[in-house]
Amino acid sequence: MDQIDMNDMQSMVKAFPKMLVSVQISKETQDMCIKLREDDLGGICIIGMGGSSIAGQYVQALLQDSVTTPIINVHDSIIPSYVDKSWVIIAVSYSGNTEETLASHEEAKKRGCHPFAIASGGKLLSGVKGKNSIILPANYQPRAAFPLMFSTILHVVECLTGRELTDLKVISETLRKKQTQWEESPMAPNTMAEDLQYIIPVFIGSRHLIPVAYRAKCQINENAKTVAFSSEIPEANHNEIESFVGENEHEILPVFLRSNFEDDRMKQRFDITAQIYEDEGFAPLKLGIKSNSRIEEMLMMTYYLDMVSVELAELRGVNPISVDRIMKLKSSLK
Ligand code: PA5
Repeated sequence: MDQIDMNDMQSMVKAFPKMLVSVQISKETQDMCIKLREDDLGGICIIGMGGSSIAGQYVQALLQDSVTTPIINVHDSIIPSYVDKSWVIIAVSYSGNTEETLASHEEAKKRGCHPFAIASGGKLLSGVKGKNSIILPANYQPRAAFPLMFSTILHVVECLTGRELTDLKVISETLRKKQTQWEESPMAPNTMAEDLQYIIPVFIGSRHLIPVAYRAKCQINENAKTVAFSSEIPEANHNEIESFVGENEHEILPVFLRSNFEDDRMKQRFDITAQIYEDEGFAPLKLGIKSNSRIEEMLMMTYYLDMVSVELAELRGVNPISVDRIMKLKSSLK
């Protein structure tokens, strides 16, 4: 595999399959998680902001239908009052210095929760050592480090909930092959980027694809520096659908993220929603990628849409690496 160029977002994004399998959790960490589970685990609270928050949302969406332990995600400096000492807190911050994450992590420690930290450095790691922390490889952009954070959080949560650890090697290999196929097909990421160039996309997902839609929105915002939104079905059928009317003065492109695992009712909802939008003069895009499992589907779509966001940055002539406004805000708040 080629060297990853940390000054080139495309190089980082292309390394997604490799990054998915590059961090392993130690035997000591696994044993500790098993012990915590046996000690009557109350719940798992994953804390993180922006590029460090999305991986936890994927893990929650993926596992919440099959585990009995509550899994929640917090993106703020406060945590819900029901999070008590029987809970495990997984604080995720790529830099390890994000104010909100540090604050809620501190609060959780005061409440006696079991603290766990995932970071590439920074203050977050200074309070949590050894088997309670996982140190990520440094120098990525946080949002590009998604595969590192996702694989780590997934395996920690799987251990905590008594599930077998997902072997990500096969998925990583599938992603590698897909990337080459996409480049040479009508589905090339730059073709979709062209469709998004002069229009505001709204990525619409359901169930496990809800965080994928949100990730796509955030990647377009941060990498391509342009406006994008995301929403979810069925909820959008009860509010947002009313905004897709013919006389709407905004240039909006609905992008439906379709799953191979939709039940019949969900299929119907998507099809009817798309038809209503078309009848109103919109031209929805439908994105579906053949997959063997929900996790593979989530990761494949994410990989593809990440590449689309970088291609869009190129078309727009903007630098996908810089996040000047995020930095300005963080330093103004110091
Ligand atoms: O992608 C980014 O750079 C941001 O969304 C960051 O992830 C966010 O500001 C939080 O920082 P960190 O990931 O270092 O905790």
